[in-house]
Amino acid sequence: MGFPKGFLWGGAVAANQCEGAYLEDGKGLCVPDMLLGGDVNTPRTFLPKTDPTAFYPSHEAVDFYHHYKEDIAMFAEMGWNVFRFSINWGRIFPNGDDEEPNEAGLKFYDDVINECHKHGMEPLITLCHYEIPWNIVTKYNGFTDRRVIDLFVKYATTCFKRYKDKVKYWLTFNEINIACMGEGGIGNLYGLGMMDPEDVNSDHRIPLDELKSDPQKMFEALHNEFVASALTVKAGHEINPDFMIGNMIAHTTVYPLTPNPKDILAAYDEDDFKNNFCGDVQVRGEYPSYMWRYFKENGIDTSYITEEDKKILKEGTVDFYTFSYYQSNCITVNKDVEMAKGNMTVGAKNPYLEASDWGWQIDPDGLRYTLKLLNGRYPHTPLMIVENGLGAFDKVEEDGSIHDDYRIAYLRPHIAAMKEAIEDGVPLIGYTTWGPIDLVSAGTGQYAKRYGFVYVDRHDDGTGDFSRSRKDSFYWYKKVIASNGEDL
Ligand code: BG6
Repeated sequence: MGFPKGFLWGGAVAANQCEGAYLEDGKGLCVPDMLLGGDVNTPRTFLPKTDPTAFYPSHEAVDFYHHYKEDIAMFAEMGWNVFRFSINWGRIFPNGDDEEPNEAGLKFYDDVINECHKHGMEPLITLCHYEIPWNIVTKYNGFTDRRVIDLFVKYATTCFKRYKDKVKYWLTFNEINIACMGEGGIGNLYGLGMMDPEDVNSDHRIPLDELKSDPQKMFEALHNEFVASALTVKAGHEINPDFMIGNMIAHTTVYPLTPNPKDILAAYDEDDFKNNFCGDVQVRGEYPSYMWRYFKENGIDTSYITEEDKKILKEGTVDFYTFSYYQSNCITVNKDVEMAKGNMTVGAKNPYLEASDWGWQIDPDGLRYTLKLLNGRYPHTPLMIVENGLGAFDKVEEDGSIHDDYRIAYLRPHIAAMKEAIEDGVPLIGYTTWGPIDLVSAGTGQYAKRYGFVYVDRHDDGTGDFSRSRKDSFYWYKKVIASNGEDL
């Protein structure tokens, strides 16, 4: 059977991690523009105003803004029929609450979309991939303020109207569940644009894992984001009934570390809270029962979930479910175990798995398992993997070649696992690898953590001329796509 005809093959990027040009053509500051780089052991830091002497990786990123034609042509050379990218909210509404959209920003994405079509690629657009305008953080405390729902819907409908005849596939919020992950306020800031006023007004750099977090406010903000997402889905379908509008979940698959029933239950609960909660709201259109219990036991006042909002959630369910998949983690009630690493995920080390140089556990079988789980949970809902890949150090040889066999070794069994899942009957419609061109890491802000098939000459010390070159994996992925996933 194998991959169906018309399967979507491509790659995925986020505006803030690849475009650069952070203030060009009227763009306003957005959350990642305020963050300095870190590394695997050093968290990224934040300062409430940009420091002209510091190096901010997103400010130039890999300069996709000026290289998009060349980059999209290279993607086309690999045979892609889909390209996932985000629109930076701050290019369209620089302050998030402007009366009129910024025409230069809209025009840039017209150009990018036209370039995709020129090469036979479907654009798959994420409306918000952490790019919440900075003004929304400082003035409204992000999505904690209900007015931001309307601001987001206005931005989304502006995009829908502008590109309605050129773009079919849309995602509302990237990894909407990251708000529920990790320690401190990182997920709150990236996902919800929410930051404690004391942190916003601080006069010193704050490591992201030390940002303050208030669970009551966080759940309210997340609720507002659910409502914004549902209203966006409804508005999109009114503008073009053929739109396919999806959600996007960071799926860190969990296993119980041992057969101890306590571990099994702990893993089940962790899966519900981190992976299933947001998807359940967005696919089924209502809060799941386990969350009502969670709210009660954790003293969350849920009076903000009104009957009117419940109706909106029911009416704005998504057309397809998309997710990122990089790794799995083990859960145990035993506190005395070695922990694995991840962007914002915490879990025990799995003795059967290898890990990347950033400690992310590599688990292709977990992808098949995840696809089967999701299909069981949301029967008949089309699924798409919109991020998967290996962040690794690359070495450029003297002749300029880059032999990234480790990247191929990561991707090959993941694609094989997708094929198995399709044989199992999972309605998987597409696959976009993460960072098909090297870009800035969201978690660490590093350039050195490279995911690309295309290498970019740009480094953590700010050197490099932004030139592009093809790695070995480029030719491998091209072959995979040409054979529709048969020749791995
Ligand atoms: C996902 C995000 O969580 O993981 C991307 O949607 C991110 O923005 C990707 O880049 C990989 O994480 P990192 O930290 O290696 O960039």
